[in-house]
Amino acid sequence: MVDDTDVLLKEKRIFKPNEIILGKAIIKDWEEEIEKGKDYVNYWADKAEQFTWFKKPEKTLDDSNKPFFKWYVGGKINLAYNAVDRWIETDKRNQVAILYVNERGEEEKLTYYELYRKVNKFANALKNLGVKKGDKVSVYLPMCPELIISLLACTKLGAIHSVVYSGLSVMALVERVNDAEAKILITSDGTYRRGKVIDLKNVADEAMLQCSSVETVIVVKHTGTSIQTSDLSGKEVFFDTLMEGEPAEFEAEEMDAEDTLFLLYTSGSTGKPKGVVHTTAGYMVGVATTLRNVFNIHDGDLWWCTADVGWITGHSYVIYGPLLLGSTTLVYEGAPDYPDPGAWWNIVEKYGVTKFYTAPTAIRHLMRYGKKYPKKYNLSSLKILGTVGEPINPEAWIWYHKNIGREQCPIMDTWWQTETGSYMISPLPVTPLKPGSATRSLPGIEADVVDRDGKPVPLGKGGHLVIKNPWPSMLRTLYKDEDRYINTYWKEIPGCVYAAGDIARKDEDGYFWIQGRSDDVLKIAGHRIGTSEVESAFVSHPAVAEAAVIGKSDPIKGEVIKAFLILREGYNLDTKLIEELKKHVRHELGPVAVLGAIKQVDSLPKTRSGKIMRRVLRARELGEDLGDTSTLEE
Ligand code: PRX
Repeated sequence: MVDDTDVLLKEKRIFKPNEIILGKAIIKDWEEEIEKGKDYVNYWADKAEQFTWFKKPEKTLDDSNKPFFKWYVGGKINLAYNAVDRWIETDKRNQVAILYVNERGEEEKLTYYELYRKVNKFANALKNLGVKKGDKVSVYLPMCPELIISLLACTKLGAIHSVVYSGLSVMALVERVNDAEAKILITSDGTYRRGKVIDLKNVADEAMLQCSSVETVIVVKHTGTSIQTSDLSGKEVFFDTLMEGEPAEFEAEEMDAEDTLFLLYTSGSTGKPKGVVHTTAGYMVGVATTLRNVFNIHDGDLWWCTADVGWITGHSYVIYGPLLLGSTTLVYEGAPDYPDPGAWWNIVEKYGVTKFYTAPTAIRHLMRYGKKYPKKYNLSSLKILGTVGEPINPEAWIWYHKNIGREQCPIMDTWWQTETGSYMISPLPVTPLKPGSATRSLPGIEADVVDRDGKPVPLGKGGHLVIKNPWPSMLRTLYKDEDRYINTYWKEIPGCVYAAGDIARKDEDGYFWIQGRSDDVLKIAGHRIGTSEVESAFVSHPAVAEAAVIGKSDPIKGEVIKAFLILREGYNLDTKLIEELKKHVRHELGPVAVLGAIKQVDSLPKTRSGKIMRRVLRARELGEDLGDTSTLEE
C-alpha cells in the first residue's frame, strides 16, 4: 500500500535546496555554469586537467570526420592509473576504496592500497595468459570485489572488457562473447539473490561449448558452492590460483586517449544487441566530472549506487566515477528486500551512506511495503539522493523525498544512456526541482526537443530528444557496425545531431520531461530490452508461428511484456502452454524479460512489406487513435 495519499497526480511544487546543501555545493551558480558550458570545447578541455596524463592532449576535439568524433587528440593516459595508483601517493592510500556488502550481512573492505596490489597481481596474471593491449575479455560475474579488480586490471594493461550482466541467459552470453571474439571469460560459481545461491557456472559452462575464441575461463570462487569439478571446457583456472605468487607491481599501459576502453552490449530495434564502444580519456572526463558536480562528491563521502555493473550505470557510477574521484564506493550484492524490505536502509544506517543513487522501479517496489521500514532506521547521514533508468513518477519521487530523504535531500533525476556514458540531463544540487523532470542539460551539454525535420517543437509539445554537440564520454561507434552507428544515432534527425531514441517535451522553464522510447525498445524495471529480441525468443518455441510484443505499463516495473502470438496448428493457448512459454522466454533471455500477458491472435497488423506495426497493437491495447494506418496491409 502506498501510504502517502496526499500526493496529487500532478505534482506542481518546486523543491529548492536548503542552506546546508547550498553551502556544500561544488557548483554554486547553476546558470553561470551552464553559460560557461556553452563554449563546450574549452569547458571540456578544462575538465581534463583533473587527471594525470602521460602526455597532455594536443587538441581537445577533432570533428573533421563527423560523426566519428575524437576527444583529447594525442593525449596518453591510463584509467586504472588515475582511479587507483594516483591515490596511493596521497592521504587516501589507506582509505577504503571498495566497501563490498551482501544481503547475507557479509562485508569486505579494500583500501586504495589493497586494491592497487590486487589489480596489479591480476594484471600480471592476465599478461601471463597472453592477454595484451586491445584483446577482449568478457566478464560474467556477480557484484563482488573480483569483478572490480578484473575490470581495473584490464584497463591497466589496455585489454578491452565486455561485461555481460550476470542475470542474462546462455544465449545472450554466447552472442556477446562471440561478437567480441573474447580471448578470456571471467566468471564465478554463483551469486546471492534473495536468500538463494544462483548458479552462474552452469550458464558459463553451457555457453563455453559455443564460444571458440575463448582460450581461458577464469573462475572466481565466490559463493563456495556448486563449482563443478568437471572442467567442461578444459580451459578453466581459478582466480585465486592465478593471483598466487604474482608481483604486486604492474606498469600501467600508456593508452591513447581514443583507444577503446570497453564494449557494452545494449538492446536496440533489431534482434542483434549493439556493442557500444567507449574510449579512454573522454569517458574518464565525463564520468568523473558529472559525478562530482551532480552529487557534490567531497572527501568523507560514502557513495552508494545500487546498479549492477552489468549495465552502464554500474560501469560509470559504481566503479569508474567514484574511484576516479578518490571516493569510497559501496558495492552491494543481493536483493533490495532481503532479508526484509528494510535491508537497504539498514545498510545506509550501519555504514553512514551519504549519497544514494537507485532506480525508480526499486523505489516503487520498496514503497509498496510502506514507510515503516525506512522509519526503523536512522537515515540522517544521507545528503543527496538520485535516480536513473526511466522517468520517476511524482508519487515515487515524493515518497523517496519524504521517507528516505527526510525532506532534506535533493533528488538528482539523471537522464542518460549506455551510449552517452555519463549524465546528460540532470539537476545539480543547487537546482530548483520539479518531481518527474530531469531538469536541464548539464553544463557542456546541449539537449533539445525537435521534430522529424530537426526543428525545435513549441514548448510543452512532445518531440525527439537530441543532443546537439558532441561530448567527451559519447560512444564512438558500434562494434564492427559503423553503418548501424550512423543510421541509428546520426541519420534519424537532419543536421548531424545525436538522436537519443527518446520522446520528451520541454516546459516553460526549459525543463525536460522524458516520456519514453520512440523506438521498439522496452524499459522493464529500467532495463532495456528490444521487442524483436523477445519476439525471436517466442518463435524459437515450437508452438509459436509468429509473435509481436509491446510494452504494457506496470505499477512497479514501469513496463512489462505483452505478447500477441499466432500459434502453429495443433497448439492451443492453455495454462500449461502459457507456463511453458514463460519459462522458455525466461530461459532464452534471462529473468530481465518479465512477461505480463500472452494473447493468442489469428493475424498481426503488418505493413505491405511485412513489418509488424507494433504501434497499431499498442494503440488498440490502450484504446487510442490508430494514427496513420495507410501502410497497414489489413
Ligand atoms: O529512455 C531513457 C531511459 O533509459 C534509456 C537508456 O537506457 P540504458 O542505456 O539502459 O541506460 C540506463 C541507465 C543510464 C534512455 O534512453 N532513461 C534513463 N534515465 C532516465 C530515463 N528516462 C527518464 N528519466 C531518466 N532519468
